[in-house]
Amino acid sequence: MSDPIDIILGPDNLTIKVHFLNEDYVEKVYLMEQASYPDAWSKGLFYSEINSKNGKFFIFIANDNLIGYAGYWLANDEAHITKFTVAPEYRRKGLGKLFMNYIFKKAKQDKAKEIILEVRENNLPARLLYEKMGFETIGVRYRYYVRIQENAVVMKKILDDISIEE
Ligand SMILES: CC(C)(COP(=O)(O)OP(=O)(O)OC[C@H]1O[C@@H](n2cnc3c(N)ncnc32)[C@H](O)[C@@H]1OP(=O)(O)O)[C@@H](O)C(=O)NCCC(=O)NCCS
Repeated sequence: MSDPIDIILGPDNLTIKVHFLNEDYVEKVYLMEQASYPDAWSKGLFYSEINSKNGKFFIFIANDNLIGYAGYWLANDEAHITKFTVAPEYRRKGLGKLFMNYIFKKAKQDKAKEIILEVRENNLPARLLYEKMGFETIGVRYRYYVRIQENAVVMKKILDDISIEE
């Protein structure tokens, strides 16, 4: 695989290499997706994020294992998070916070002024994480997740105070 675009330090000095999603990793991302979401994306949706002109899609790798993935689409000065996932065996160690700070920085480097996401109403871990990261609820989309008939909570964070210095 090509060189990582960034290397970040995780809990217990875990070295995390960040790459853009590539074809070699779609299968692994798809498997983690199925283990993580009741309305998982299809493999085709992940393929369409490779080299996307509308946004970025990152994979996080430690000790050659996929430990998470996250992406956003960009429109005007808004970044819209499309996926945000930590590998099941790596959860509750602070990686969610670390990856979200990384996304804030990258979105700001991409000139986004705010960041938006939808989260399933019943997804308490994610909602708590997003609140902790400074997101505010701005609305509810009823039955947004059509397949599972669940509402989405829409959350927004202004990126004013995020530093993009290395
Ligand atoms: C949501 C998710 C990304 C959190 O990742 P994580 O690495 O476990 O998050 P962190 O360890 O950084 O936790 C940050 C905060 O989130 C909250 N949180 C995370 N998981 C939680 C849980 N299971 N129960 C309660 N609070 C939780 C806590 O407030 C936590 O802070 P604390 O550890 O100081 O109490 C992870 O659970 C995940 O990938 N879930 C499946 C995919 C998903 O639903 N993604 C969100 C899509 S919108």
